[in-house]
Amino acid sequence: MFENIKKEYCYGNFLNGEWAFFDKCLDIIDPTSKKLVGRISQMKHEDVDNAIESCSSAQKEWGKMPTNERAKILHKAANLLVENQDHIADILMHEIAKDKKSCLSEINRTADFIKFTADEGERTIGEALNADNFPGVKTNKLAFVIREPLGVVLAISPFNYPINLSASKIAPALIAGNSVLLKPPTQGALSAMHMVEIFNQAGLPAGVLNTITGKSSEIGDYVVTHPKIDFINFTGSTKVGKHIASISGMVPLIMELGGKDAAIVLDDANLEDAANDIVSGAFSYSGQRCTAIKRVIAVDSIVDKLIELILPKVKELKVGNPKDSTITPLVNDKAKDFVLELMHDAEEKGAVRLIGGNYEDNLVYPTVYDKVTEEMRLAWEEPFGPVLPIIRVNNIDDAISLANKSQYGLQSSVFTMNINNAFYVAKRLEVGTVHINNKTERGPDHFPFSGIKNSGMGTQGIKYSIEAMTRRKNIVLEYN
Ligand code: NAP
Ligand code: G3H
Repeated sequence: MFENIKKEYCYGNFLNGEWAFFDKCLDIIDPTSKKLVGRISQMKHEDVDNAIESCSSAQKEWGKMPTNERAKILHKAANLLVENQDHIADILMHEIAKDKKSCLSEINRTADFIKFTADEGERTIGEALNADNFPGVKTNKLAFVIREPLGVVLAISPFNYPINLSASKIAPALIAGNSVLLKPPTQGALSAMHMVEIFNQAGLPAGVLNTITGKSSEIGDYVVTHPKIDFINFTGSTKVGKHIASISGMVPLIMELGGKDAAIVLDDANLEDAANDIVSGAFSYSGQRCTAIKRVIAVDSIVDKLIELILPKVKELKVGNPKDSTITPLVNDKAKDFVLELMHDAEEKGAVRLIGGNYEDNLVYPTVYDKVTEEMRLAWEEPFGPVLPIIRVNNIDDAISLANKSQYGLQSSVFTMNINNAFYVAKRLEVGTVHINNKTERGPDHFPFSGIKNSGMGTQGIKYSIEAMTRRKNIVLEYN
């Protein structure tokens, strides 16, 4: 099934219905074994031009295809993804050191996402408005508000969910009649290319989905400022997202960026449940999730008891090879160095290490700090690794105020058995989503998912993504 997508370890790019190969390739190294997993093509500006041109011309016919026919192709792709899950999960595990169980769950979740998107697309309708609802105007008018595709959508995905966060842009864009240019993450591109081949096998017409790979420093700015890109759907770091927003001009954007999600634990919380959620929320995929719990803000009266419950659960986390561990090597040495830098800064400033702190190569052991204060970088920065700071506060208002001091505003959790306290906090937190008695997480994928402040702009989620990647067209009829 995937024989055509690479030549001698170097993966091609999917362009106009075929796999095209390029002279220069970049090595993709397994973060665990440090062995070569594969290589990706290094494209140049003119290759990017060709890919966009092909998307632009293919979109014209694709946009006219009945939605129910587009939906059939998406359903077929979802089924093929499930059929090939073992093979793709293996590539994913080797490429980004994600534990095998999470790789399989990412693939199955993506298949469900694609199917739900196909069905949602079939339900997407416009509206009709009567002129006489508005005072002082002619009454013999009707507006037909229909939705049209935007054109060429540029989808840029991050390393930590190369399949899911590519598909969550591709599927809504396609069902709405757009064509898609996918720029996968360099580390993650091999897995993403397998999914692209699945769309090909499902019968997507040539040019409707093209891919580009290469060094971001060479093709990144070029593609995001290209005049034939009609929408940019980006997930990644705040630094890169802000840069893209600053140069892309008058192109609509969805930006899903970094986070510093807080778990606020109040004195009336079910502490056992909170501890379970905090540990899985903070440490799954070694904390390399935008929605990972990245700080615990707990009131003084219960914090010692909470720590007592958290620590044994952290001790139980299996550390090692992605084949069977939760805590796996970080994606590269740079990521590991950054995590260690934040840990050193916290320790120098007096944070109390409760567990962890050790590492082997780029495998960092799960680490928890108590008595983290506002002076420490760990209180504010996103480690994207398995390190969890606990910050003690006096009361509910201090917890809210500390949570809101963050530059980020993705999600937060509040743990309390008092519904009034839950809503008191939820209404005051400056984030896109508040979870009550639940860890922070993006899914289910039809829920709206948006970040505010430096966590992004716009809303993802199946219906919301379709809405974002269509425009309203108003056709007005005046009758006698
Ligand atoms: P990243 O370094 O910002 O990269 C994200 C994507 O942008 C990659 O495909 C990258 O390509 C590409 N890119 C880099 N520079 C570019 C440029 N100038 N123009 C166009 N594209 C460019 O992020 P990451 O390290 O992959 O992911 C981790 C970050 O993403 C964390 O901050 C995390 O919080 C955030 N994230 C947020 C969400 C969310 O939904 N809010 C979800 C997942 C991750 P290369 O790989 O080739 O550099
Ligand atoms: O890394 C960011 C993802 O959007 C997080 O998704 O909460 O399902 O792990 P998740």
